[in-house]
Amino acid sequence: MFERAVGIEAIHVHVPKHFLDLRALASANDVDEAKYLEGLGGRRMAVPAPHEDSVTMAASAAMGLFEHYDVSPEDIGMVIVGSESEVDGSKATAAWVHGMLHLPTRCRTFDVKHACYSGTAGLRLASTWCRAASPGGTNKALVIATDIARYEVGSPGEPTQGAGAVAMLVSDTPRLLALDPYPEALFTEDVMDFWRPTYRSSALVDGKTSIDSYLKALAHTFAEHERVSRLGFRDYDYLLFHVPFPKMAFKAFRMLYERDAIWRGDAPSLDADFERRTAPALEANRELGNLYSGSLYLSLAGLLNNRGARAESKRVGLFSYGSGCCAEFFSGRLGPQAGSWRGRIGIGSGISGRTELTYRQYLEIRKAGEALLNDSSYRLLDPGGDRRVSFMGIRRHQRIYEVSEVSKSRRKAVKA
Ligand code: CAA
Repeated sequence: MFERAVGIEAIHVHVPKHFLDLRALASANDVDEAKYLEGLGGRRMAVPAPHEDSVTMAASAAMGLFEHYDVSPEDIGMVIVGSESEVDGSKATAAWVHGMLHLPTRCRTFDVKHACYSGTAGLRLASTWCRAASPGGTNKALVIATDIARYEVGSPGEPTQGAGAVAMLVSDTPRLLALDPYPEALFTEDVMDFWRPTYRSSALVDGKTSIDSYLKALAHTFAEHERVSRLGFRDYDYLLFHVPFPKMAFKAFRMLYERDAIWRGDAPSLDADFERRTAPALEANRELGNLYSGSLYLSLAGLLNNRGARAESKRVGLFSYGSGCCAEFFSGRLGPQAGSWRGRIGIGSGISGRTELTYRQYLEIRKAGEALLNDSSYRLLDPGGDRRVSFMGIRRHQRIYEVSEVSKSRRKAVKA
């Protein structure tokens, strides 16, 4: 039977404007900086400003997508937002994004949550919907993964914090990544490895359990995908993983490498293999930190940004893990013109345009952002800079957002 090709047509990353160098954090926490830089593999972490939340980041990533690619908002029939940093228990972030982008009213909008797996849940749901389009018709979905990774100040998780959003256009024109149509390789187990009670703004985690659970889920899903696809460890040009911190991707790669090496004698060294097949994707993760739901897709965007034409038509394996837990291993092939996407992804310009914070400023921004979470008094903040969309405060229990004039005019220019 004819299988319609589906997958990712376009991708754009929203990079928050502020960052903290992990060396400054190590110094403030009186920790050897090598633990953060080498032990965890990070370099810097994105720090969301008080004007940024999961809604503004999602909308900003989506606006960037429409600004940089030849895609019409009129074609969008579904918006799915994956997040574990929601700002409302009822209203969907997808509805806010839909409104800010003036998408068609004939559109299905909803959010999904399963810790860091939610972006993948959205991508897979949207792909199935795109594949099911009526003959001659086409379905296009906007899938956005948006999160703020926040742990207690001074806790072991603090150096793995991060923030950002990745917007993906999913369609039957998968110019960026065509998903392989194999049966799904899934794993679910009820485990308390990482969680955030609704009365807390920062997550709680059992670090060792979370790492063990991640690796167990990888072992299960990789074996299942191998069984249904007959693709082995060596068949992938690139292997991408959920990246709670960059060293975790190394641990994941190492586990698959060692499993493969048991029956294979001619393998390259572990380090050389990792440097060739996974490390090129991790540059952006090292700069932004954990994006939770968007972290795997930041790696995908980072791979395209880093490798350009060298990544064209290559086969990619992707592992998605959400604590709690749900995981999936799937695969696909990068588009034949992947090299021409570089300038549109948003990573290069986003990272180069950032402002460094001191440790004290990081604490101040963090405190201000957390205070606004539960503050129902409206205050007009000065967002500053060139943000596409800003959170301005809360009035009559409603969050007020402002879309910048620049974004409005860019949108008009795209429509014209
Ligand atoms: N120089 C170099 N390396 C050093 C060092 C030094 N001076 N000191 C320590 N290290 C190394 C350690 O050897 C260790 O490396 P290995 O794991 O390769 O042995 C690494 O630095 C970390 O050290 P610890 O294990 O002692 O660190 P920790 O216990 O303080 O915290 C952590 C590590 C548990 C991952 C913590 O950062 C954390 O809780 N993070 C959040 C949870 C997380 O990310 N879990 C991952 C799986 S869950 C998931 O994927 C979902 C999600 O997104 C959260």
